[in-house]
Amino acid sequence: MQQQPPPFPGGFVFGVATSAYQVEGHIENDWAEWERAGKLKEPHVRCGRSVDHWSWNRFVEDLDLARGIGSTAFRLSLEWARIEPQPGRFDEAAIDQYRVRLVRMKEAGLRPVVTLHHFTHPTWFHRQTPWHSPESVEVFRRYSKVCAKILRGLDALVLTFNEPMVLLMGGYLNGLIPPGVRSGKQCMLALANVVRSHVAAREELLSECGPTTLGISQNMVALAPDRSWHPLDRALVHLGSYNYNHAVLDALTSGRLRIVMPGVASLDVTVPGARDSIDYVGMNYYTRAHLRFTLAHPYVELRYRDRLRRGLTDIGWEVYPEGFSQILLELKRYGLPIWVTENGVDDRGAGTRRADYLHSHWRQLLDAIKRGADVKGYLYWSLMDNFEWLEGWGPRFGLYRVDFETLERQETAACRYFRSVATSGKLLTPEEPTSAEPVEGAALAALAT
Ligand code: FCB
Repeated sequence: MQQQPPPFPGGFVFGVATSAYQVEGHIENDWAEWERAGKLKEPHVRCGRSVDHWSWNRFVEDLDLARGIGSTAFRLSLEWARIEPQPGRFDEAAIDQYRVRLVRMKEAGLRPVVTLHHFTHPTWFHRQTPWHSPESVEVFRRYSKVCAKILRGLDALVLTFNEPMVLLMGGYLNGLIPPGVRSGKQCMLALANVVRSHVAAREELLSECGPTTLGISQNMVALAPDRSWHPLDRALVHLGSYNYNHAVLDALTSGRLRIVMPGVASLDVTVPGARDSIDYVGMNYYTRAHLRFTLAHPYVELRYRDRLRRGLTDIGWEVYPEGFSQILLELKRYGLPIWVTENGVDDRGAGTRRADYLHSHWRQLLDAIKRGADVKGYLYWSLMDNFEWLEGWGPRFGLYRVDFETLERQETAACRYFRSVATSGKLLTPEEPTSAEPVEGAALAALAT
């Protein structure tokens, strides 16, 4: 019998995560163009109205749904293309709208967790000032200054960039996402400019808002050699773990940005202002991947294996909660508080599998805390089903199931489980949820303080 884990520490925050393009609807940006160019897995698929979170009624309903499962934090992103549709021309109505929403969120007892950049760009950006051009940094500074005005006085947890390595590898190395470049050299120039842009955004936020809790969210994957006996597979795991999981965090803590991908890309620069430029480590964790050396450029193949016979998730990723604590413990090296800014599972069934996923990952989270990882909060990806980038409308990561025809949100079994743990602070098992009632008013206000 497994030992009962300790409760979550006092003040531990449970919340949910979203991003603008994936939920709001009717956004004209580089992804909308990408879709029209037929670049998704299924070329006819569009994000379109998405799940209509931009309409005020849906937005308010979604806040209620988050509160109803005991969340006290809500992660969203600001859509650059709404705020600055033309270079240097800002849309005051959109700016006001974001401000009003964040104020409302806070009043509802949900701490805003705000990402300035979650993969998408205004359409003009890649044509005029792409990430590999030095101008990108000042352009991002100009945008961040406006974001800082939106955020003033809200005590938001701020993230400048979501998953820079996903953005850079997808956008500049394998060319699968906008802007679709495939060049190691441009990728490295772009990465350095993204780090510089983080520094610029930090400067703007500090000058506009005063002390701000600021970080990035880093996608972190547990890596293993595909052939455990093969020295090159093992070397790839070593390099991959450094380059993919840690290089950006190292840069934002030490000031030195170094990438070592032999035969593909390399970089070693000092970025002024990057040292100690994050106040916490934001991490997104989903899965483990196996790496295999191949002779074809870029010399590595990534595979999701089911060697533990747990069954892959519906999107095809391994369920590997052990990697969650392993990586949380690796993050201790930065000596900073940690926020889990995303964790979740594509479960196209009734949500029972999601409850098991939550349970196994929370168990590992508690274990990491016991072993010294200073984890402050956990944000589930995602509150409701939404548009999953290249995969389109197939995946279902939502605690709430969305009927994509009527846009109605429906509670799944995992909502009840999430609520029971978030409100009790105890790791119950999915079979024994106690406080299965939605949480309202006073109880929530108490949770939020
Ligand atoms: C993460 C992204 C998020 C969502 C989840 C499933 O890598 O940050 O937008 O797509 O994966």
